[in-house]
Amino acid sequence: MRKINIFDTTLRDGEQSPGVNLNFSEKIEIAKQLERLGVDIIEAGFPAASPGDAASVKEIARIVKGASVTGLARCVTKDIDAAWDALKASAEPRIHVFLATSPIHRDYKLKLSKEEVVEQAVQCVKYAAARFPVVQWSAEDACRTELDYLAEIVEKVIAAGAKIINIPDTVGYITPKEYGDVFRYLREHVPSIDQVQLSTHCHDDLGMATANSLAGIDAGASQVEGAFNGIGERAGNAALEEIILALYTRKDHYQAYTDIALQEIKRSSDLISKLTGMFVPANKAVVGNNAYAHESGIHQDGVLKEKTTYEIISPELVGFTLNNMVLGKHSGRHAFKTRLEELGLQVGNEEMNKLFVTFKELADKKKEMTDEDLVALVLEERSAHDGTFFDLVSLQVQYGTNQVPTATVTLSGSNNEIIQEAGTGAGSIEALYNTLQKSIEGEVNLLDYRIQSVGAGRDALAQVYVKMNYGGMETSGRGLAQDVLEASAKAYLNAINRVIYLDSKRTVTS
Ligand code: KIV
Ligand code: ZN
Repeated sequence: MRKINIFDTTLRDGEQSPGVNLNFSEKIEIAKQLERLGVDIIEAGFPAASPGDAASVKEIARIVKGASVTGLARCVTKDIDAAWDALKASAEPRIHVFLATSPIHRDYKLKLSKEEVVEQAVQCVKYAAARFPVVQWSAEDACRTELDYLAEIVEKVIAAGAKIINIPDTVGYITPKEYGDVFRYLREHVPSIDQVQLSTHCHDDLGMATANSLAGIDAGASQVEGAFNGIGERAGNAALEEIILALYTRKDHYQAYTDIALQEIKRSSDLISKLTGMFVPANKAVVGNNAYAHESGIHQDGVLKEKTTYEIISPELVGFTLNNMVLGKHSGRHAFKTRLEELGLQVGNEEMNKLFVTFKELADKKKEMTDEDLVALVLEERSAHDGTFFDLVSLQVQYGTNQVPTATVTLSGSNNEIIQEAGTGAGSIEALYNTLQKSIEGEVNLLDYRIQSVGAGRDALAQVYVKMNYGGMETSGRGLAQDVLEASAKAYLNAINRVIYLDSKRTVTS
């Protein structure tokens, strides 16, 4: 059995999903969960991209001990320096440098000849290897690159010090058979190939990312890159949970294993979905809510007689729990804290004080607080971590089928000043959002609004996600409350607060 290294790029390529912008504390939350899950490598970000990215990569490199942490860099010294600054304190500093190799990218994007691309790749790998003990090099758009040229450049970057060679299907173009052939070709034509690890990195534009990654593994790759829930640029990256479960369920075929704690899969998927606002479809393989639901009578009959008739994965294996109702309004602080810890959420004393107050308020309105509620509550409190400039003090909305909906809102501003406004709209949410718009400076354009219940039942909490343009920046926000209007107001303010926070950081660092 060979070990396959799991390289998670949820925080880098996954965060490149349109409309996703995670703040500092959300990235740390995800990194900690990935560590618990047991991934081998966490690609924490792209340090040269922004001071915010550099700061979160640095913090993740500092706190994560159970996985190797890496950061992306273009083949330029300034990117490698930024990555070194962010990663030098980690246990095993590791960098991921990339340069495009395909004729389309060479001619139109880079405007470099084949020789110039080789020269730049070799120089940057040498520069990186003089600092980092582990250098991974990626041939961007490898799958549309001439095979003999790909073999030539791979041989040269290995000589320059690369330890891992990644073969990205950057545009999601290749088929599984062809992808396997690329690996077989490299193994036959690159004399030094046995000195390095080969890695897959597949995008899902034609829906083949998982199949392609597995074909790469079949053909000798020992590292697989992907993102949870398949998020990422355009149609996304290979969904790691699918690859991990395919390797586990079909170990007879792949003769390989991973070090992943399978029972952490569902929790990781839920956390990433909540924090990114990228919902997981019910029929999504492995982590979708219907993935283990049997609807037809014939199937139900079969499963009742013998589960394996229609179930190749047991839901418990990946962390689906049937009954997770645990706490209520009579639950004490100790039980609350213990349950949070069991859910993998470490809470300090000060944070605990605030959380427990909110827990009691919610538990008073809701009969039972499920695990999902508790996780949502903690994430909600933490989402304000990067600065609450506007806070909701109160709101009132009047709606009647024959009336103009009216909202009155009271906010506190960054200097604790009280802001009060009233406004109208065609519906309740519009009245509320028009009023919030009047309360803050600058134009807001709402791009997306989504609402989801946390758990089931009439007293389920409402989780609202918004995407908006504010101050020339696309931003997103989340809000949780028992009432949909309150959750909507919180989501709106959360998105605004993120932009103000990022702006304040930029002023400080520039
Ligand atoms: O898809 C891609 O080519 C990438 C590289 C930066 C590895 O994400
Ligand atoms: Zn990619």
